[in-house]
Amino acid sequence: MTSICIVGAQWGDEGKGKVVDLLAERADAVIRFQGGNNAGHTIVREGEEAWKLHLIPSGILYPGKLCMIGNGVVVDPAVLISEMDGLRARGVDMSGLRVSANAHLIMPYHLLLDTAGEARLGDQQIGTTRRGIGPCYADKAGRLGIRMQDLLDEKILRTKITAAMEPKRLLLRPYAKDPTLDLHAMVEQYVTYGHRLEQYIADTARMVWDLLDDDRQVIFEGAQGALLDIDHGTYPFVTSSNPIAGAACIGAGVGPKDINEVWGITKAYTTRVGSGPFPTEIEGPLGEELRASGGEYGTTTGRARRIGWLDLVALRYAARINGLTALAVTKLDVLSGQQTLSVCTSYVGSEGARFDHFPYHQSVLHHARGEYVELPGWSQDISDCRREEDLPPAARDYLAFLADGIGVPIVLIGVGPGREQVIWCDQAASASS
Ligand code: GDP
Ligand code: IMO
Ligand code: MG
Repeated sequence: MTSICIVGAQWGDEGKGKVVDLLAERADAVIRFQGGNNAGHTIVREGEEAWKLHLIPSGILYPGKLCMIGNGVVVDPAVLISEMDGLRARGVDMSGLRVSANAHLIMPYHLLLDTAGEARLGDQQIGTTRRGIGPCYADKAGRLGIRMQDLLDEKILRTKITAAMEPKRLLLRPYAKDPTLDLHAMVEQYVTYGHRLEQYIADTARMVWDLLDDDRQVIFEGAQGALLDIDHGTYPFVTSSNPIAGAACIGAGVGPKDINEVWGITKAYTTRVGSGPFPTEIEGPLGEELRASGGEYGTTTGRARRIGWLDLVALRYAARINGLTALAVTKLDVLSGQQTLSVCTSYVGSEGARFDHFPYHQSVLHHARGEYVELPGWSQDISDCRREEDLPPAARDYLAFLADGIGVPIVLIGVGPGREQVIWCDQAASASS
């Protein structure tokens, strides 16, 4: 059975949640492998209020589906519990949920450090989601992290929290009186979380091995996107994990050969939340128009997303660093009504140099602007199209140009937010079986 890794091919919010939900119906399990509740994955089902998931994998809406939070994810237990409660209140069965005993925990001091770090950067700030993600991964690398399994032993928990908080005393001085930093209250609070979560804590890597050994289908669910990758993205304007496919091995505990396909999700245009370079950004009324028609406001923070044209330079790069085997193109419907569509095929630097490849140098990238090919748009509403043949010829040409420009076939096209508003392409038949 084919195991598929789903990753964002841009700066996040490409529609990963929707695609994972679609694939999860037939899959045996879904595992999230990195990031934390900086993610916001939306699933829209007919007649239901939109589902917004931050930590829980996007397969949870299928009763009993095994949905794992892998060791590579950073978990804010308060957020996890409230997300579970919220889903349960809407009738969702939580019996398939599991959390890796090795997943690291976001602590109250991580939240404060995230905010303090941004304040210190002033106008250089990254525009983080302020969910404590960066400081938590920093403690993980510094071997001061608190893990899910530590919740189950009060003595160990207290020792570890003491050790982790001590070196931060200086940085946390402005928060000295913050009630969340009281050691005893914090230990008590986290022990309570442990009681609530105990039945879900598991050896998720072993569970995935057993499934793969049994030839079952596992979906590896990424968060964020390639250009937010801490190694390969637009550093330092990135997140603190690796949202690319290679990280699925580490964050779930499998080898590269255990993943058969890597699907990159891309919008038919580009968006970015937070600061940092964005070579194809559209300023002015057109950007506003697309933001309004695409509903481009962050799922997690509600911030307005920056809007840009489709960027083939960045997508070719994303294809390479992920080893993409297929593309899912979402939000094609949002482009309906535009007379012409610009597609970026190269960048031009501040001194006129042309770049066909994504520039590695930060100073080059910050000044790079897209060079475009103009393609004809279409005026029809395409949200009811369910076969490629139903799409207007200009939309099909646009997609063909995209696939050719990246060198990766398209398996799925999104024509609206609803789970039924998709077109499965011919290549998909073999890929998802
Ligand atoms: P994720 O973080 O990658 O899961 O993406 P988000 O959920 O943050 O953002 C994607 C947004 O686009 C959500 O509001 C989805 O409901 C919506 N969406 C997904 N696919 C489509 C599509 O094909 N057309 C339209 N109009 N909206 C879509
Ligand atoms: P999903 O999974 C879009 C961005 C933030 C900020 C940068 C660092 O929904 O696609 P962080 O809080 O991670 O330290 O912030 O990364 N960011 C996202 N942008 N979608 C996301 O997740 C994001 N997660 C983080 O806006 O620029
Ligand atoms: Mg999102």
